[in-house]
Amino acid sequence: MSEKKSGLRQGLTNYGDEGFSLFLRKAFIKGAGYTDDALSRPIVAIANTGSAYNPCHGNAPQLIEAVKRGVMLAGGLPVEFPTISIAESFSHPTSMYLRNLMSMDTEEMIRAQPMDAVVLIGGCDKTVPAQLMGAAAAGVPAIQLVTGAMLTGSHRGERVGACTDCRRFWASFRGDQIDAAEIEAVNNQLVATVGTCSVMGTASTMACIAEALGIMLPGGASAPAVTADRIRIAERTGAQAVAMIGRDLSPAAILTPKAIENALRVLLAIGGSTNGIIHLTAIAGRLGIRIDLAQLDRMARETPVLVDLKPSGQHYMEDLHRAGGLTTVMREIRSLLHLDALTVTGRTLGEELDAAPASFPQDVVRPFERPIFPQGGIAVLRGNLAPGGAIIKQSAASANLMEHEGRAVVFEDAEDLARRIDDPDLDVQAHDVLVLKRIGPVGAPGMPEAGYIPIPRKLGRLGVKDMVRISDGRMSGTASGTVVLHVTPEAAIGGPLAIVQTGDRIRLSVAQRSIELALSDEEIAARLAALPAREADPGERGYRKLFLTTITQADEGCDFDFLQATRITATVPGDGNQV
Ligand code: FES
Repeated sequence: MSEKKSGLRQGLTNYGDEGFSLFLRKAFIKGAGYTDDALSRPIVAIANTGSAYNPCHGNAPQLIEAVKRGVMLAGGLPVEFPTISIAESFSHPTSMYLRNLMSMDTEEMIRAQPMDAVVLIGGCDKTVPAQLMGAAAAGVPAIQLVTGAMLTGSHRGERVGACTDCRRFWASFRGDQIDAAEIEAVNNQLVATVGTCSVMGTASTMACIAEALGIMLPGGASAPAVTADRIRIAERTGAQAVAMIGRDLSPAAILTPKAIENALRVLLAIGGSTNGIIHLTAIAGRLGIRIDLAQLDRMARETPVLVDLKPSGQHYMEDLHRAGGLTTVMREIRSLLHLDALTVTGRTLGEELDAAPASFPQDVVRPFERPIFPQGGIAVLRGNLAPGGAIIKQSAASANLMEHEGRAVVFEDAEDLARRIDDPDLDVQAHDVLVLKRIGPVGAPGMPEAGYIPIPRKLGRLGVKDMVRISDGRMSGTASGTVVLHVTPEAAIGGPLAIVQTGDRIRLSVAQRSIELALSDEEIAARLAALPAREADPGERGYRKLFLTTITQADEGCDFDFLQATRITATVPGDGNQV
């Protein structure tokens, strides 16, 4: 068996003469001024996702410098390389449309270039899942670093942060409660620094998930972007990457079924973003681990929400950091975690929790017995409207709408919504159910975060703040409301959502975990049979064609089918014995 090569010797271009390939490679890199001593060191690659289009990664240069310092202090050679960077507000048609492309870029560049370990610098919503999906498949020891959350700003004495407050202020503007001058003024304050959104949105959720998975340094999720703590974590991450080399700390050794279960627990306990489920499903799917939504709901019923952060609560990420970060959360749910799961340090999660600084009084992470919400933040719904499942973030929903029956007011797609939602003649009442079709993985395409359907302006002006809203799309992790998401299968591929008509009645029962269209089975079958088949656009080409022909539904993580592992080896959450 051939010995595993390290440093510059791995992955040589094959000219039929290995010695010449190495000679040539060294000649080229020496053109950048490297010495033989430097080139003999183990290589820690650094995936650089800095981009002027991505202010959430605006501190990437400082982080890279610190990671490099850590690598060199530990005797390695740091080599940074660029990959695609995705920012939420600069990605058309949606950032989700590009997540799998970034994961392919990350996977193949890890595979293609010589490295003994890799530091993944992500942050904004889709970047961390894309990196973990790619690294999981590539198999090189990997450690996640996030850019960290932005700090909060201040508007007229009130603390504000992206983007729960963005939505709140915009809703007030739409409802004529604040004027144009004020909405412009608050626009300057919502994003006070570089970094990721300051609430428990998708970026913060994915940072916490990465730490819970054990693929990030303990304590690495919460430090804000512009703090010394964040820089120190970066330096330590670089050093740890060197320490991982030559040990069995590959992604497959860390991202085990137990680790995935731990991450699901944490997702529920932090009141994390619904997007976290899709991303974690995709990451796990790369390793042949399937997430069972029914079992996830069982897990949710026994996992309370403990973190008092917006949008479910009142605080921001910088407050969670001051409260001890994710360690404080994991200590409270310790009895629910697999403490023997391995982390990038080579120690187990339990050992890391024991070694972490002692807890202290704080008011951001509640004790287990005094939760902010008694069950996990996310509930899984099923019914004739969503045979493959749907999701509701119950911790951010209105209590009075969780058991609700109402008349459907249907929008056929995002354009129809934009055209009619603010029409003064729109026939809509506060107790109606807003339905938006064709914003699923195929429908939009790219499953935009348009599931947070705006309250019709005429109702907003009457003070209506929330309504039951249903779609096959996603919702920003920073949003709140009684919003049913990820309806599967989606309308664009002929799911039952496609047959809903204005005037139909829809029943939502979060207690029963059901979402039902009040029609007979015969009527549903007849309407489904009458749906026109989806016609492919003959002009479709390139990435869009790849996307539309291989994207899976939300319950499979919206990964491309050919990127998933070829075999399912485990299903989680299990009953403890399965994992
Ligand atoms: Fe990048 Fe929110 S927009 S984290």
